[in-house]
Amino acid sequence: MIKRVLVVGSGGREHALGWKLNQSPNVEKILYAPGNGGTENNCSIKPTDIDGLLKVAKHKNCFTVVGPEVPLGEGIVDRFQEKELPIFGPDKQASQLELSKVFSKKFMQNHGISTANFRVFQNPDDALEYIKSKELPMVIKADGLAAGKGAIICRTLDEARIAIDRVMIKQEFGSAGNRVIVEDFLHGFEVSFIGIADGINFIPFATSQDHKQVYDGDLGANTGGMGAYSPVPMVSDELYEMILNKIMKKTVNGMRQEGREIKGVLYAGIMICNGIPYVLEFNCRFGDPETQPQLFRMKSDLVPYLEASAEGNLQSLDPIKWESGSAVCVVMASGGYPNAYERGKVIHGLNDAMKMKDIMVFHAGTENQGESIVTSGGRVLGITALGRDTQDAVERVYKALKLIRFEGAHHRKDIGNQALGYLGGL
Ligand code: AMP
Ligand code: GLY
Repeated sequence: MIKRVLVVGSGGREHALGWKLNQSPNVEKILYAPGNGGTENNCSIKPTDIDGLLKVAKHKNCFTVVGPEVPLGEGIVDRFQEKELPIFGPDKQASQLELSKVFSKKFMQNHGISTANFRVFQNPDDALEYIKSKELPMVIKADGLAAGKGAIICRTLDEARIAIDRVMIKQEFGSAGNRVIVEDFLHGFEVSFIGIADGINFIPFATSQDHKQVYDGDLGANTGGMGAYSPVPMVSDELYEMILNKIMKKTVNGMRQEGREIKGVLYAGIMICNGIPYVLEFNCRFGDPETQPQLFRMKSDLVPYLEASAEGNLQSLDPIKWESGSAVCVVMASGGYPNAYERGKVIHGLNDAMKMKDIMVFHAGTENQGESIVTSGGRVLGITALGRDTQDAVERVYKALKLIRFEGAHHRKDIGNQALGYLGGL
């Protein structure tokens, strides 16, 4: 039975994971590596310092939960398994689904999972020639990890030239840009479909929707995510079943057939086009910020699900129970984010917001400095509210957000609007 948990990572997702796991009757302590200004028991070990993490997990006898994708790609799970230390997350073979978009697109093609038509290019001139032969917009994606910023929508040929130059020639995302996917642009609305797999079985989380672009109305550059809510009312029961069976379960099975059992999170970023779901990308870790509203609504204890995933035993568990209302998370970001931004700005009003009912402020890019909490990253806080319904949760979250201030702070004012528009039109 789990007693201590080591949460690897420093974002809002990791704060939310630790907060939720800490409510389990079986957990006596949560440690974070490295954590942030909102978390306690922080060990100053980077998520990529696998030797350092191994030492802490062994010494403190922890079950380890990995938040971000980079250590997964570096084989943290394989290293822990070699030492017989319990850990939640996919091994290196399985995390290929997130690490390489070329791998995941070919996987989908081979297993009949719907996704946008695409071609793979290693040569910038060939990529541009292909785009010239197609109707715009088109989407250019770096093959490897790019912190959620490697997909560029090109509405003109000039934009395509600039994107290819940035990704393939200037290599803004490093070797992640050695190969690119060029794919058709899909019109529709996006859903994050996330759940836990044990290699064979899959247990879904409640649906959620992220808001990737920096400005209201989905304008501006892509970010790691500026806000999210759960559930997504536009996902009908029929659509939910289609995603569960034709995408999620099919992916878990297909990966097993390829000798890459997914034990951990399976997250599909999906575009719904005319009622049909198309996979935009797969991730092998929880969403950030989707985790914040999802876990705020989760009534079940999370611990048994993570343990059963690692042990290949999910079939023994019931479906997860959720609060019937809605949860909304709005990210407050540093001035300038997602481009260069300043750090070290003192954050005011945190306690006032935290005193409000059904509000939780999850920290991300924050750190303690003397008596103050200051900004230390691009996405700083995830203000999260639980409400009777989406409207109620949206009203609560923006009321709480008004109480928090730091120099240069910006946030989106339209989180949840797609759901409100849909519900208003019903
Ligand atoms: P990805 O990293 O592949 O999830 O892409 C990041 C974001 O870019 C997505 O969440 C969408 O908002 C947008 N995007 C990616 N691929 C497409 C596509 N084929 N059509 C339209 N938008 C896309
Ligand atoms: N919110 C997007 C992601 O976690 O990839």
